[in-house]
Amino acid sequence: GTQTLNFTLNGEPRTLDVAPNAVLLDVLREQLGLGGTKKGCDHGQCGACTVHVDGQAMNSCLRLAVMCEGQQVTTVEGLARDGELHPVQQNFLECDAYQCGYCTPGQMMSATALLNDERIGTDDASVKEAMSGNICRCGAYKNIVEAIQKSRV
Ligand code: FES
Repeated sequence: GTQTLNFTLNGEPRTLDVAPNAVLLDVLREQLGLGGTKKGCDHGQCGACTVHVDGQAMNSCLRLAVMCEGQQVTTVEGLARDGELHPVQQNFLECDAYQCGYCTPGQMMSATALLNDERIGTDDASVKEAMSGNICRCGAYKNIVEAIQKSRV
């Protein structure tokens, strides 16, 4: 059987029937057609699937969709507003903070969460540490940190 899930996705209230064992990543990609959230390892090791749940960065491959009942989920598709890129998106472009781009949506979701988290230091080492769950196989780390630092207001 399926279970009803009521949540807010990229600012829109949604009601869906989901399998009780379906993870948020698969519901986003397969049921809702939101392909921006990437599947890398599917085991919580790479960060490609990072989304925000109530403003916190989370690996959507590890989270049952039904656990998002009543929560606010934001995916990379929800970062740009009114046709304007989010500053983090703009700075990833300007700093060449990607190569193949596969990890980029997850990197940007972790980046936007860390910029809103006052507990995280503003120096490069703290940013690197906070981003350590997001693997970039191309090794664009230096430019990623640069893009994040440039996004501070
Ligand atoms: Fe979720 Fe790798 S796909 S952490």
